[in-house]
Amino acid sequence: MRVLCIGDVVSPAGISFLRRKLPRLKAELGVQATIVNGENASVGNGLLPADAEALFAVGADVVTGGNHTLQRREILPYLSEHSQLLRPANLPESCSGGGVYELDFGSVRLAVISLMGQVFFTNPPDSPFAVLERLLRQITTPLVLVDFHAESTGEKLTLAHAFDGRVSAIVGTHTHVLTADEQILPQGTGYISDLGMTGPFCSVLGIDPACTISRMRDHLPTRFHFANTPPVLQGVWLDLDEKTGRCLQICRVFLKDS
Ligand SMILES: [Fe+2]
Repeated sequence: MRVLCIGDVVSPAGISFLRRKLPRLKAELGVQATIVNGENASVGNGLLPADAEALFAVGADVVTGGNHTLQRREILPYLSEHSQLLRPANLPESCSGGGVYELDFGSVRLAVISLMGQVFFTNPPDSPFAVLERLLRQITTPLVLVDFHAESTGEKLTLAHAFDGRVSAIVGTHTHVLTADEQILPQGTGYISDLGMTGPFCSVLGIDPACTISRMRDHLPTRFHFANTPPVLQGVWLDLDEKTGRCLQICRVFLKDS
């Protein structure tokens, strides 16, 4: 099975670029499942229902979450009603929505898990290690893909090695920078530290640099806005063995207008 994973969609421009590029990319690669991180696609941070709808409409099969997923109150009922929109599975049970969705292809199912790291987050969630252990006791399909939304590369690599051979792939999100460390770990788990971003490339993680300079260098109270620069689409595609669940191939994707 070929799976496409798209890095954090940032801003309406990121959604528009996805709408323009994704159909052809999926057709050219022969993708069967498309997973998109969408925790931060809306103006003003977080994800609003209309933007979640837009991500599904442009071709996402599952939209994964992160630390901003619950930021907008409007998304809470949508999360409860749309199980293909995930929030991190290691948030408390009392939170709206769920952190796992199984895509059913008839003869085979792909379980997609959204998890969040603990390192460098204020108010961190439960241990991703403990929660993934618990989830894997319940999941029966060998095809398991984890979006690990975390700040620390060390935490991402540690989770990946701890679960090597027990999940098909662990792809990192959250830093908005596409890393060059895609690999297949010794027991067959595909890994990359970060899928990067789908949004304005010449920016600070999608934000206009003038805003971050004002806040970081000048210590001024500054409202952030998205950069108005040409967008890119970043992520990876992976080939997964449907019988063993092992990752056979992982390859970076980086699209921009030429
Ligand atoms: Fe994030």
